[in-house]
Amino acid sequence: MTDQIDFNDENSNTSANPSFDSVLQARLSRRGLLRGSVGSVGTAMLGGLGVAACGGGDVVAAVPAATLLGFSAVAKSLADVVTVPAGYTASVIYALGDPLTASTPAYKNDGTDTDFENRAGDHHDGMEWFGLDASGKPSTSATERGLLAMNHEATTDETRSSFFLHANGGTATLPRPAVEVDKEIAIHGISVVEVKKTSGKWATVQSSAFNFRLTCLSDIEIAGPARGNALLVTKYSTNGTRTRGTLNNCGTGKTPWGSFLTGEENWAGYFFRSATDDTAHNNDKSVTALKRYGRNQGAASRHGWETGGSADKYLRWNNSKTGISSDGSDDYRNELNTMGYIVEVDAYDKTRTAKKRTAMGRYAHESASFGVPVVGKPLAVYMGDDARNEYIYKFVSTANWDATDASPISAMATGDKYLDSGKLYVARYNNDGTGLWLELSISNATIAGYTGYAFASQADVCVNARIAADAVGATKMDRPEWCGVNPANGEIYFTLTNNSNRRVDPASSSQLAPDSANPRFYTDMKGTTTQSGNPNGHILRMKEGAAGSAATSFTWDVYAFGAQSDADATKVNLSNLTVDQDFSSPDGLVFSPYTGIMWIQTDDGAYTDVTNCMMLAAQPGQVGDGGKKTLSYTKADNSTLSVDTYVGKAPTANTLKRFLVGPKDCEITGLCESPDGKAMFINIQHPGEGTRMADIADPTKYTSQWPSNAGYGAGQRPRTATIVITKNDGGKIGT
Ligand code: FEO
Ligand code: CA
Ligand code: CA
Ligand code: CA
Repeated sequence: MTDQIDFNDENSNTSANPSFDSVLQARLSRRGLLRGSVGSVGTAMLGGLGVAACGGGDVVAAVPAATLLGFSAVAKSLADVVTVPAGYTASVIYALGDPLTASTPAYKNDGTDTDFENRAGDHHDGMEWFGLDASGKPSTSATERGLLAMNHEATTDETRSSFFLHANGGTATLPRPAVEVDKEIAIHGISVVEVKKTSGKWATVQSSAFNFRLTCLSDIEIAGPARGNALLVTKYSTNGTRTRGTLNNCGTGKTPWGSFLTGEENWAGYFFRSATDDTAHNNDKSVTALKRYGRNQGAASRHGWETGGSADKYLRWNNSKTGISSDGSDDYRNELNTMGYIVEVDAYDKTRTAKKRTAMGRYAHESASFGVPVVGKPLAVYMGDDARNEYIYKFVSTANWDATDASPISAMATGDKYLDSGKLYVARYNNDGTGLWLELSISNATIAGYTGYAFASQADVCVNARIAADAVGATKMDRPEWCGVNPANGEIYFTLTNNSNRRVDPASSSQLAPDSANPRFYTDMKGTTTQSGNPNGHILRMKEGAAGSAATSFTWDVYAFGAQSDADATKVNLSNLTVDQDFSSPDGLVFSPYTGIMWIQTDDGAYTDVTNCMMLAAQPGQVGDGGKKTLSYTKADNSTLSVDTYVGKAPTANTLKRFLVGPKDCEITGLCESPDGKAMFINIQHPGEGTRMADIADPTKYTSQWPSNAGYGAGQRPRTATIVITKNDGGKIGT
């Protein structure tokens, strides 16, 4: 982590609602709820899997638990390499700037490259596999040819400039030159690239007609309740039905009908607001919303793209009210409302316009993970809002799952059916191990009558979901990142990456006392730097009540707490992690449908004095397999704060093991596999991000030179890249 502003660590939730409800709901019988749901959910899920309705027909192959995690744990490392266990091979296949058309020149990696609309974007993040058969038709069983659809979240930058993209490091002052802005805009968004195995080796297909990019300028449709709403009227779309681009795409998802979902995360920071914009808005409720979503007036934008020129594609980054219209049709005062969604993309067909699914709410989205589909029942999609003190959400479709939709004629039309109408819920975690899904509905009097913001409609609730969640008293969490659903039992796992704002004695409205679901406050030293709060994060686990996907209650516990292995086991290392499995700041979390392994990836700045970021393999247990633990804190007035939490059974050497450590200054993110489980694709994001812009001319000062130091590509500038991992004996990954 550099000492710049961290655009991934936003905190704009200063709402007054407590971090957990102090008025306890009627205590449900924890054991009774568990017993009731094992039968109903378990049976229903087996039915769902029996008709191959899961993941667009992807098959859950039974790999005996005893044969999983048979590899030797990888040691923590500060080396500028990717390390995998003995018997495995990791190869780079797709890095920033790699060409996506036959006529695009090879990447020179010296800051002179252009035409990024036809190249891999930067900061590859979430990623999903879309199989192709030999004739190029979509296939759920093909194992040697497919498409990787992935997010290009952001770029390594300092003082506005994406310095590795520009020959001399670029321009740190305003105005930013158009040629620099154009490149930076084009490296954001998503890419779809064909990959193919030839003579045992995986590579991208540069000339594939399937390859495409969406950038911050691509035309995208608004779908769902907010389509056509006054809140989305802009100069670009005066009827509020379209917008340009998808931005800061982080986690991903794959629908049961085989389309790609991409989550828009830290988009707010890309927009500029003038220092007098609140007055221009007459301090109306739009100002409340802008602030709640992280844009105070006078806020500088991350890159200064609004200064690139007088063309509309630059002006749209200025979010100030500059026009004279009453509805915003002559400026971009409402532009922020067009970002922050789950966007559905047909990875197989670049001619189909992507759609922002507004019914799933607007916030800093990470992944979108479907519950195991059950024929005749609604679909559930689990999602987190990654900023300090934000919430966990669930969307439940109005339409019931029809297994024939797993092979759609048109993926986007199937998306219209399941993702544009439904109920949006937010989670509240009680201190007895139960929790509630609270519906965010305009027909809820608590929301309709909320004094903090006058909601006008369900569209307003979806667009300002954070404020509706404030109104109903959702639980403020330690930065919800990815979510994954265990295909074996339907349980839901959320990574909570860290939170520097936990305090036993909160000193401001942005600080929170530890609570049951976010129970730790401690100090972790990084060299001589003191890190306080919950610096290492944890992984929360939930089990739906008897109604399955439509349940409004659940039980929960903590699967594991991140910690260094030598930390105090009574207060910090509550999961007794050993040297072979200790981790910090969990972020990516994906269950393999082919082995059942839960893969955990880290995006850490706390334990990076000891190790680079990593990926671990886990065979998790189930909610309730551990026990209650009470943590006691002494407050400044010498009173005691007691926090009851629920700690899952501690992992053993055979159930949690470090599988990979990445190069310097990277995070590990995104994971998908070929459907035989024998090729795993993951992303190494932002190696060398600690490099200073002033050192651009001196490669010896780059904190990483990966992947060129691994023999991939020209130049010495570090590049985000996709790697493929295979097992030398041809077996499944993680066995
Ligand atoms: Fe893009 Fe929350 O990580
Ligand atoms: Ca430490
Ligand atoms: Ca993430
Ligand atoms: Ca992260």
